[in-house]
Amino acid sequence: MFVKISITILCVVIFFFQELQCSNDPDICDSFESIVKRYGYQMENITVQTDDGYILQNFRISRVGTNMQNITGPPLVIWHAFDRNARCFVVNEKDSLGILTTTSALHFSCSYFVAFYYADAGYDVWLPNVRGTVFSSHISLTPNDAEYWDFSYGKIGKNDVKAVVEMIVEKTGQKLITMGHSLGTSALFVYASAYPEDASKNLKGIIAHAPAINLYHTKTIYLSILSNIPDLVRTNFGLFKINYIDSSLETACQYKLVEPFCELLINSLFGKSDNINLKYSLPKFTGRGNEPISSQVFINYLQMIQQKGYFADYSYGPLKNLQVYGKINPPAFNLKNINIRVDIFCGINDYVCSCEDAKTTFNMLETEKSYTILPNNSGCHGKVAHLDLFMCSNMKHCVFDPIDNILANYINL
Ligand SMILES: *[C@@H]1O[C@H](CO)[C@@H](O)[C@H](O)[C@H]1NC(C)=O
Ligand SMILES: *[C@@H]1O[C@H](CO)[C@@H](O)[C@H](O)[C@H]1NC(C)=O
Ligand SMILES: *[C@@H]1O[C@H](CO)[C@@H](O)[C@H](O)[C@H]1NC(C)=O
Repeated sequence: MFVKISITILCVVIFFFQELQCSNDPDICDSFESIVKRYGYQMENITVQTDDGYILQNFRISRVGTNMQNITGPPLVIWHAFDRNARCFVVNEKDSLGILTTTSALHFSCSYFVAFYYADAGYDVWLPNVRGTVFSSHISLTPNDAEYWDFSYGKIGKNDVKAVVEMIVEKTGQKLITMGHSLGTSALFVYASAYPEDASKNLKGIIAHAPAINLYHTKTIYLSILSNIPDLVRTNFGLFKINYIDSSLETACQYKLVEPFCELLINSLFGKSDNINLKYSLPKFTGRGNEPISSQVFINYLQMIQQKGYFADYSYGPLKNLQVYGKINPPAFNLKNINIRVDIFCGINDYVCSCEDAKTTFNMLETEKSYTILPNNSGCHGKVAHLDLFMCSNMKHCVFDPIDNILANYINL
């Protein structure tokens, strides 16, 4: 009861500050569509329904001056990370610091909005949103139903990726280049290993940024601690009926009062970045949506760390696994099944998805592949952490160029 009241008060306070902040930086509060239009791009919004009834909104971005009807470029589908949605690929670079924010010299300096960068380069850019985001819903369940949140990253890969990929292939008549960040890579690897024939028919390959496939060597202290007790976390979340965590606290990061705490938390969670100031970017990434964090997918990752990076269909705890699968550990997704090209990028200072784990994933693959630690260009000294992997202007040459080189291979595939 007390906790509930405190959370409500906190939300009201945050909401009030956010209202003030909106007038200073429209990217925090504008809808996805208005952001896209403001920068002169056009968008299309195509929903798909998964086999298990989730309705997902997928955004397609056209180049300035091109009609949605005659987009011809190679389709590039970019899958967002955990606790994110497609919005994080269109937010701007403006360091429009409001009255409530700091004037610290370290500002948010990402101007290469990923979606626009690739649209300008001539790609037919698609931004899917997975289940559990503010851009998804369900035919019969609501976010108040526990069942709505009863999904693993396995289901995102087997159902969401499948439905969206089939829709885009049908619409474009082309094979897709896919790119994923963190959770987006888990989902793509699930799809490509569970349905290898579909994957080789529909995809040219996977470009994996900060792969969350074999998580084990995490430097995030909270994950390390919690990963020792994932079942305790799971059962307690169940007990308190916490199906999702409201991430609106992220929006508080822009206020001076909580700044030191926020900075400490962010740096220890994601790794310290020399390129972007997450205090300013986090509120924009989720915007008004206050992206809910699915507690089950979070627990999936704890289970994976506990199991030393075993990439499996974590849906339950050991006891239920015993009932459902006849063994304590769930079945693995076999990376050796993947028969399309895979290009892996990891950030040298990524605390969550370490390069060590990315290398493990790379070694397990038996397909055509590459592995790049970013930055990987001479003269690039900035450290790259979890969230700035492919979105920073001052690191454009350091981060985008190596990815563009890989992308060039795909055009001829
Ligand atoms: C996309 O389309 C759905 C269904 O028509 C609609 O509910 C949703 O608001 C649209 N989203 C955006 C961002 O335009
Ligand atoms: C796209 O379509 C519009 C009309 O629908 C046409 O005016 C324009 O020339 C087309 N652009 C290209 C590149 O084909
Ligand atoms: C860095 O890039 C060069 C080519 O630009 C490549 O040969 C090398 O393997 C890369 N190193 C790493 C660690 O990714």
